[in-house]
Amino acid sequence: MGEKQKIIEASNYIEKQSQIRPKIGIVLGSGLGILAEVVLEKHEIPYKEIPYFPVSTVKGHKGQLVLGKYLGKEILIMHGRFHFYEGYTMKEITFPIRVMKALGVETLILTNSAGGINPSFRPGDIMIISDHINLMGDNPLRGKNDPELGPRFPSLHAAYDKKLIELAEKVSIREKIKIYKGVYVGVSGPSYETPAEIKMLKTIGADAVGMSTVPEVIVACHSGIRTMGISCITNIASMTHHKAAHHEEVIEAANKTAPKILTLIKGIITEVN
Ligand code: HPA
Repeated sequence: MGEKQKIIEASNYIEKQSQIRPKIGIVLGSGLGILAEVVLEKHEIPYKEIPYFPVSTVKGHKGQLVLGKYLGKEILIMHGRFHFYEGYTMKEITFPIRVMKALGVETLILTNSAGGINPSFRPGDIMIISDHINLMGDNPLRGKNDPELGPRFPSLHAAYDKKLIELAEKVSIREKIKIYKGVYVGVSGPSYETPAEIKMLKTIGADAVGMSTVPEVIVACHSGIRTMGISCITNIASMTHHKAAHHEEVIEAANKTAPKILTLIKGIITEVN
């Protein structure tokens, strides 16, 4: 079966489960689950019930779509995402983004946990992604292109929407939440970086490093969805830092920062149209 047909079947299934017609999509990273709890008129759909959806395997990641209302707007949340390191293909990882587009999503907010490379960063800091570097070794658009889904050679020049970044900055000032802006490097994982790799990432212009987001942003951009990315800096990926990163530490730091990220997202959702 073709990709298009699978997208249609999945979106038809979701539309049958709920009256919600979301224009805003949110992808929740590790430890940021509280964002799914504030949704009203909630309808939860486990990934395993949705035709052609992969199923999430990581601790701290739930596997369901949450449709509902937040601040009077209809939204869709991916509670649990798919990672390249789990063994999924890039096409599988980004299938939900294609489905969001088919459901009418126009604005996408992606969140993630990331290691801080920029020496100013501390665990618990928030970085709005201004651009990315794809070091994952693959691209979700590799292979035959369906022009109905997007162009063969899409530009990623404006992959991170400037207006959404400005909006995040405005909200952060109003809410007195300190944010940074910076470049996110996507790596495949699951091993954390060696000191030599961290040194290289710093040299090539990375502010933060993580194992997600890049494939989703590429497909969102290909589909014509305007996108923003918010990284929660959960650990310091430093060449001289002797403590290695741990998954538990990442989840704990993300849990602590989640309320601030929620406030940011709340402000963005209120003002986005
Ligand atoms: N490296 C890669 N991915 C991550 C990290 C890290 O240090 N922290 C959270 N996700």
